[in-house]
Amino acid sequence: MDFVPDNDHPLDPFPHYRRMRESAPVFHDEQSGSWHVFRYDDVQRVLTEHAVFSSRMGGDDPSETGQLFAASLISTDPPRHRQLRSLVTQAFTPRSVDALAPRISTLAAELLDGIASTGTADLIEELAYPLPVIVIAELMGIPAEDRNRFKQWSDVIVSQTRTGTENVDHHATNREMTEYFLAMIEQRRSRPGSDLISNLLAAEIDGQKLSVAELLGFCSLLLVAGNETTTNLIGNAVLCFTEAPGTIERLLAEPSLLPQAIEEVLRYRSPVQSMYRVTATDTTLGGLPIPAGAPLVAWIGSANRDERQFQRPERFDIHRGPIRHLAFGQGIHFCLGAPLARLEARIALTAVLSRLSGLSLAAGTHLERMESTIIYGLKELPVRWQAA
Ligand code: HEM
Repeated sequence: MDFVPDNDHPLDPFPHYRRMRESAPVFHDEQSGSWHVFRYDDVQRVLTEHAVFSSRMGGDDPSETGQLFAASLISTDPPRHRQLRSLVTQAFTPRSVDALAPRISTLAAELLDGIASTGTADLIEELAYPLPVIVIAELMGIPAEDRNRFKQWSDVIVSQTRTGTENVDHHATNREMTEYFLAMIEQRRSRPGSDLISNLLAAEIDGQKLSVAELLGFCSLLLVAGNETTTNLIGNAVLCFTEAPGTIERLLAEPSLLPQAIEEVLRYRSPVQSMYRVTATDTTLGGLPIPAGAPLVAWIGSANRDERQFQRPERFDIHRGPIRHLAFGQGIHFCLGAPLARLEARIALTAVLSRLSGLSLAAGTHLERMESTIIYGLKELPVRWQAA
């Protein structure tokens, strides 16, 4: 059900979004049967009106990943969503996230130690990718030697979500990942620790605990949500900062601007460009009648560039002030990991700006987007700086 915006310019789908906002803000793709939503107000409605726009996408999806996510909170509606979310938030509190700050700083410093003297590196490979993986793996109590398998699994899941296709590799990966997490869950059941999986096993509401399927769904959701998205937020931020003249100097002179600069990156190059829903009832959107059971794609990346909502949306402007972007969604499914993603980005970018002086894209760099229409991020980010 993919609707590929513009195959020729994957890094710049934004002119295409603008055309759609003008000419077909709610677009019915006859071929796939799905509806594509491009304007801010409509995207906001689709994300927040959960009684009309259901998140139960996994329900009829025969793929194993569909089944994995079917049991996780991102694919459930109330009342089950409310129960799952409150179980999970018991284990994933803002306080437990804040407590990670010193460890994240150490990790970022260690990763930069490895490259600071070289003067050139791929920042995705050296920092933006490993940092969130290590953080989520440590949070879940995954042994360090298993981390590389994480990347392979999450890459496969992301490509699967993108193409909707299946092949033997996907099945094998899903099976391998499921077996790994099942073993981990059983191990923590008999020997609980202070990690997230142990906390999830202990969490209960009205005497009810998470089922094994729900625990598995949550582990795989974290694997994808915690890795690719935060990696791309950090990578997209470095791209935005090096692209807009004077930004790095401004941020160095006034570091307190960094959090709002990160919000502007989230708006301008949203790591998650679209989310799926399915209509639970007949409804009307943008003046068009949509029947029950229709698959929808809410284009967050387009909503965040809507000129009806933002002044001069095509301009990257770290002085924009409070930004009501939809990069983390809105409503009951608002990103559970937003505080962690913001914290990791702030720490990683502070380290980059302070240690890699004179940072710029490496000469002759040809940037390529990751092969996904949902996730927006770079395959590689070659940069250079004045080595210490
Ligand atoms: C920049 C980084 C991130 C972005 C842009 C992002 C984006 C999103 C979006 C758009 C949603 C809403 C989905 C919907 O409405 O259907 C979401 C939900 C979610 N995110 Fe994130 N995310 C990020 C990082 C993280 C991290 C680091 C974690 C966990 C470690 C995480 C965990 C989740 C979970 C569990 C949900 C489902 C919440 C629910 O359904 O109630 N995310 N995220």
